[in-house]
Amino acid sequence: MSVILVQGYHSLKGELEIQGSKNAVLPMMAAAILHKGTTVLHHVPRIQDVFCMMGILESLGCVCRLEGHTLSIDARELTCCRIPEEGGKAMRSSIILLGALLGRCNEAFAHYPGGCSIGSRPIDLHLRALKELGAVIEEDDGVLHAASTGLSGTVIHLSYPSVGATENILLAAAGANGTTVLHGAAREPEVEVLCRMLGAMGVRIRGMGTELLEIQGEKTLGGGVFEVPGDRIVTGTYAAAVMAAGGRALFRRSSPRHLGCVLSTMKSMGAAIRIDQDGVEVSMEGRTRPWAVETGPYPGFPTDLQSLLMVLFAVGEGGGYLKETVFEGRFATAKELHKMGAAIIIEGKEAFVTGGQLRGACVRSCDLRGGAALVVAGLAADGETRITDCHHIDRGYEDICKDLQSLGAVIRRET
Ligand code: EPZ
Repeated sequence: MSVILVQGYHSLKGELEIQGSKNAVLPMMAAAILHKGTTVLHHVPRIQDVFCMMGILESLGCVCRLEGHTLSIDARELTCCRIPEEGGKAMRSSIILLGALLGRCNEAFAHYPGGCSIGSRPIDLHLRALKELGAVIEEDDGVLHAASTGLSGTVIHLSYPSVGATENILLAAAGANGTTVLHGAAREPEVEVLCRMLGAMGVRIRGMGTELLEIQGEKTLGGGVFEVPGDRIVTGTYAAAVMAAGGRALFRRSSPRHLGCVLSTMKSMGAAIRIDQDGVEVSMEGRTRPWAVETGPYPGFPTDLQSLLMVLFAVGEGGGYLKETVFEGRFATAKELHKMGAAIIIEGKEAFVTGGQLRGACVRSCDLRGGAALVVAGLAADGETRITDCHHIDRGYEDICKDLQSLGAVIRRET
């Protein structure tokens, strides 16, 4: 098990190329199995979730090759439609393979993905939509079996703009007969990236980037070469690091459009933001100003950066208020921040944070983004912070230590 050690009170300075987006590359990898040939993805992040998804695709019969940040997926020999239990449970988002496998093979087996520490994360919206497209889905002892004689386009209304359910529907409708009209689709940038990839593969999609999508299914989809966009949540994480530690940094390959209201929130909290053709520059002097944020589906404030804001409020001059409306269990990091002296009161979906000083402590990463938030807290704490269970962080960050070291942070990993 590896531990990350962070020394506080070192400001950050420099520039950094942001890795490819975890939440974009995973559905793009799923889309690759719709083409009976080779698909190439550039700017792929070398993270645990990508390695896990590669393992799952290989168990289905695909040939995956990751050279540097370029991934080629040859899905010609995809013969198996059974998502392995280990990979399926290790990564919740494997559930979006259901739609892709139904589109490709008219059948799929998947294990009911476990919930994780940020909430129960049910998949009822996924299953209901796939049934409306014509799949018959049975569950036996935690194993889902979905089958169809050929999916048929239909009209689907999502009661909540679920990112994963939207992606599953897109991947299933891509191979369905006829047209699917999806109301209430998620509008996250990663969904739009998937739409554009499917469009380039031959699926006619109208309404990209909106909550109303019209998908014209195609039996034979082409391959292609695609670019994974910069990871907006990693950009937001490192922008928060600059705000916590002070300094100035330019984040290349990050899209201001994808960062939606994150940049305006950070400006309101006292950061100076400069946008140019290279990316986004964030600088900060002094302590963050108090602010109030409610998370929500895109273009609202992303839940994945909620714990980073909690840290910024905890070290800010006037604290702040958070309301988490997406996942019911995403305040777990607060109890770790308490060990560092943070003054945080949690009441249901709300967190009331009083600004103050943090001190280094031994804390545990509870989940991917919570772990990253503890690293950022360590940058603004007095003394050394030890973060254990940082395998969670490796699921989404290529090398958080190397990235922050390159900006001047005193941080290292100890195995
Ligand atoms: C995606 O998860 C992201 N993961 C999450 O990022 C992100 O936090 C989330 O979208 C919201 O933006 C990937 O893209 C791999 P949802 P997903 O379905 O698809 C409820 C990270 O740290 N819901 O939009 O699982 C669900 O319980 C991860 O990178 C149902 O009730 O999110 C939650 O409360 C964490 N039934 C809400 O919807 C369903 O069938 C949003 O979930 C599906 C979802």
